[in-house]
Amino acid sequence: MEARLQELKNEALDKIQSAQTVKELTDVRVAYLGKKGPITDVLKGMGKLPAEERPKMGALANEVRAEVTESLDARMVILEEQAINEKLKSETIDISLPGRPAKSGNPHPLTRVVEEIEDLFLSMGYEIAEGPEVEKDYYNFEALNLPKGHPARDMQDSFYITEDILLRTHTSPVQARTMEAKGGEPIKIICPGKVYRRDNDDATHSHQFTQIEGLVVGEDIRMSDLKGTLSVFAKKMFGDDREIRLRPSFFPFTEPSVEMDISCFKCGGNGCNVCKKTGWIEILGAGMVHPNVLEMAGYDSKRLTGFAFGMGPERIAMLKYGIEDIRHFYTNDVRFLTQFQRTEL
Ligand code: DAH
Repeated sequence: MEARLQELKNEALDKIQSAQTVKELTDVRVAYLGKKGPITDVLKGMGKLPAEERPKMGALANEVRAEVTESLDARMVILEEQAINEKLKSETIDISLPGRPAKSGNPHPLTRVVEEIEDLFLSMGYEIAEGPEVEKDYYNFEALNLPKGHPARDMQDSFYITEDILLRTHTSPVQARTMEAKGGEPIKIICPGKVYRRDNDDATHSHQFTQIEGLVVGEDIRMSDLKGTLSVFAKKMFGDDREIRLRPSFFPFTEPSVEMDISCFKCGGNGCNVCKKTGWIEILGAGMVHPNVLEMAGYDSKRLTGFAFGMGPERIAMLKYGIEDIRHFYTNDVRFLTQFQRTEL
């Protein structure tokens, strides 16, 4: 009987150690210490023993019970702790997980081109000037040497508010306004802004678009200053290898007037689809400020001279980034706008 009790004890201790879960351990407890367990069975057989051996056996049985119980309890503490840890692990929220980034907008591609041009001219000592989009006929035309009935007005039909007030057709009226305000002082400005024309919208025309005007007035300002300035501009916007070419042209507010072309940035001048096989791309209009314009604003055209230029940021952005339709700038299609998110324009 003693041997049987030892055997049961060893068996129970083994099973206790190998139990991996609270449930398994509870099963072991029921199996060995329960009323129908083998230890109870052995104790039931005590009656058959001689009377003097019974206390010894009883004591041994209690010892076995006590040892098994103790081992069970100790193992239970470990398994319960394990169970809790696993539960905690499985329920943990990883607060270090990065949040979803908030979507942020980005400057409109036109804004970027305008700012790039502004930065360049600011670095050359220009100031930025602005003027009203609802403009007087006087500043939009007359003060720019386009009197009423002048045929060149035909190219710039507009939206008229009254006979004498219209949506400005170009940024050139800011020239006239600035000269008038400066009262004969030297000037070095660029004027970015929106302009309007009565036009049928298509891939290259829009009834509203953007312009940047430039104006320098001072002593001894010459055509060579204009050429040098435009050359710096062309290289900054389209690459250091750009050559510029000035072709004779006509604007009522400049004399002489020119169109500036740059050597094609795609083919380098050999001829391709971007430059329509000519090697040159037309970029802007410019010229020496017409003496009439200076005089009308109160400047002495014998003492002071000036140059001016006017360009369209849409055209510059379209060339630079291969945008084929001007309407992309205005329709707010995010598939277009987000293409200009991170790349430095
Ligand atoms: N105002 C002209 C236009 O909208 C552009 C222009 C040409 C501006 C020559 C100028 C200039 O200042 O000198 O077509």
